[in-house]
Amino acid sequence: MNISPTAAKTLEERYQLRSSGFRLRGPLKFEPEARIWTARRIQSVQIGRYSSISPEACVIRVVMGRYCSVGHRVEIGMSRHPVGWLTTSAATYEPAKISPTLPKANYAFESAPEDTTMGNDVWIGAHALIPGGIKIGTGAIVAAGAVVTKDVPPYAIVGGNPARVIKYRVDEDLIEPLLESKWWDYDIFGASSLGEIKFDHPAEALETIEKLKQAGELKTLEQVWHRIYPKGDKIHIMSSSEADK
Ligand SMILES: CC(C)(COP(=O)(O)OP(=O)(O)OC[C@H]1O[C@@H](n2cnc3c(N)ncnc32)[C@H](O)[C@@H]1OP(=O)(O)O)[C@@H](O)C(=O)NCCC(=O)NCCS
Repeated sequence: MNISPTAAKTLEERYQLRSSGFRLRGPLKFEPEARIWTARRIQSVQIGRYSSISPEACVIRVVMGRYCSVGHRVEIGMSRHPVGWLTTSAATYEPAKISPTLPKANYAFESAPEDTTMGNDVWIGAHALIPGGIKIGTGAIVAAGAVVTKDVPPYAIVGGNPARVIKYRVDEDLIEPLLESKWWDYDIFGASSLGEIKFDHPAEALETIEKLKQAGELKTLEQVWHRIYPKGDKIHIMSSSEADK
């Protein structure tokens, strides 16, 4: 179903999910202060706080952390066809999708993609293609137009077809400390010393964050999840506590 601009406004006012409407084809679990632009398809997606999905993206079966950015026209969670069969066509396992004249399926094939997981602070460049089941580590970047075929390590920048590691985003000895700090779990925008965090110098930013944590000045960012899904021509909304189940 299409989330109309009016429904989108309600979602924004009540649940701080920013959008101007998008196509919802299955459940969406979200934290407040996430953004979904006019996505072409959102189906079985989890999106954390400060994450965004750009226009025309097609995002299927994705579990996404916080601070992630999905570029425009990205495709995630493409389905499978059988590679080793006589034919790759769905005519043998999902005939009704092809033509009503075809005989009932004799063979079972699971075409639905597995979940794709994205850690926190992941950036997927425009037009990237990511089949279902890929794991993208925290801090990674997938370059524009990449065709990802393997899991992406944390803080790696991958690009090309098939995507290969181009470089790492930060010094390699900073990766472990960044992952251990779990800075995305803290209310860094609410910190009284926010101005002290040098976002453009990751090593210094991390040092400040650790100091603020030790001084008790950084609070854990509470997990608040809401869930919506299409039910007939309406959206069903579940409150935070129900959505956690
Ligand atoms: C991946 C990206 C972030 C790299 O940025 P960068 O750190 O400035 O990297 P550079 O431009 O210095 O390029 C580094 C190398 O990666 C290669 N590279 C850059 N972009 C690439 C791409 N999309 N695919 C394949 N290789 C790419 C460069 O050719 C260069 O290779 P070389 O070392 O052999 O010369 C950037 O190219 C990109 O794809 N950004 C996505 C933009 C986008 O989609 N925005 C949508 C808004 S959400």
